Amino acid sequence: MSPRPFHSIPGPREIPFVGSVHRRFTGPLAFFEELKRKHGDAARFTLFNERFVLFSDPAWVNEVLVTKQHSFRKGKALEGARVFLGNSLLVSEGEEHTRQRRLIQPAFHRGRIAGYAQVMAEKALQWTNAQEAGREVDLAVEMNRLTLAVVGETLFGSGVEAEAHEIAESLTVIIENFNRMLLPFWKWLQRIPTERNRRLHEAQERLDATIYRLIAQRRTDARDHGDLLSMLLAAEDAENPQKRLTDAEVRDQAMTLFIAGHETTANALAWTWHLLSQHEEARRKMTSEIETVLGSDRMPGLEDSARLPYTTAVLSESMRLYPPVWVVGRRALEDVTIGGYEVPRRTIVIVSQYLIHRDERFWPAPTEFRPERWLDEAAQAVRPKFAYFPFGGGGRICIGDAFAWTEGVILLAVMARRWRFEAAPDQVVGLNPTVTLRPKYGLKVIVREA
Ligand code: HEM
Repeated sequence: MSPRPFHSIPGPREIPFVGSVHRRFTGPLAFFEELKRKHGDAARFTLFNERFVLFSDPAWVNEVLVTKQHSFRKGKALEGARVFLGNSLLVSEGEEHTRQRRLIQPAFHRGRIAGYAQVMAEKALQWTNAQEAGREVDLAVEMNRLTLAVVGETLFGSGVEAEAHEIAESLTVIIENFNRMLLPFWKWLQRIPTERNRRLHEAQERLDATIYRLIAQRRTDARDHGDLLSMLLAAEDAENPQKRLTDAEVRDQAMTLFIAGHETTANALAWTWHLLSQHEEARRKMTSEIETVLGSDRMPGLEDSARLPYTTAVLSESMRLYPPVWVVGRRALEDVTIGGYEVPRRTIVIVSQYLIHRDERFWPAPTEFRPERWLDEAAQAVRPKFAYFPFGGGGRICIGDAFAWTEGVILLAVMARRWRFEAAPDQVVGLNPTVTLRPKYGLKVIVREA
């Protein structure tokens, strides 16, 4: 059968950005939800003279991310981030991306993650010990701090206490501005001499100076410290063994891992605790599994995550309902057929974890939090491959997926034995769908004994 023409894909004539419709338009997520509801698995629209299509059939996601991935590139959304992240793994394309991926992959092998798991458990314990029953905390803020501490130490090792504060401070300023960096005119906007830009540039300079100093120290000490920095400095390209990463390349990759590696996991944990605060039975079941496997005080390691299926199911279910990366976009490099539709060159193709993870064709009672569905092997067997894809897929699948699963389960295991969290009286829950899916008003909770 010949492909159906692009213009046969249904879609709205106008994008409801202004006027009366503005009130209904609560952001890109609500807009995509409405597109799918009205138009089905393929919906097209035009915005700022760009052609977009939203695909919501898992088989078509497989085509975009896997079988036809070479017909696409990541597109302009991350161009602004390139100013700060350099030409690193997250933003590079084509052969350069393949080369970087090959160099960095060993830092995420199972043997290395076992070492990082120890750091994860220690940081979680420090956090746990610092809490007090009855206190109100914002879990969004707390989980960000905790995952930042984890990625900081797994990246740079424990010898950086002196720099840790400096790194965290500068990084906080940068992350506060990260969404601005994704704006189309960021290259120019960042040059406007505002107070905010000045603070940002100062933070970037301080962070660079600290990271280059750490790299220089490590260059004189060739030991393997077991952290990501050691791996990056030692990384060898099998096809060109003489070619190591330069200092600037190591800086760019380290910064990328810092940014990509903490907010996503922080969101996953914050949403998980939010769901558990509403589902006491699931929380009890999870805590009891953790206590059975680990006792009351043994610290979890990498091998324990396989022994905690219910805890893992809780995390899976939380990332189904609140996928930390809720949408992925690609630009077509050439004319390509997806789902039997012609997609012309330059079209931006969008697939959304949030929408597909809540599609009732694949998920009975889709809005309900039911960790048990992950333990039902028969249901798992019939579910299409891309009905669940919190980490993306294909050649650009998240390089930190095993790291993130391990971190999620370990942090939950350490925290849950001691504490539970109750919604604060003034808690307001909302979605803020930026690059990641953040809780819009934070997640205010009261800390209670488990
Ligand atoms: C729950 C936690 C996480 C989620 C949900 C997540 C999700 C994702 C997704 C969906 C992508 C692919 C984006 C695309 O195809 O356009 C991605 C890429 C990436 N992630 Fe993660 N991530 C998580 C944690 C991490 C961690 C812990 C690290 C590092 C320590 C990390 C580093 C990266 C990097 C470097 C890329 C780019 C990979 C490439 O293009 O080759 N992520 N992540």
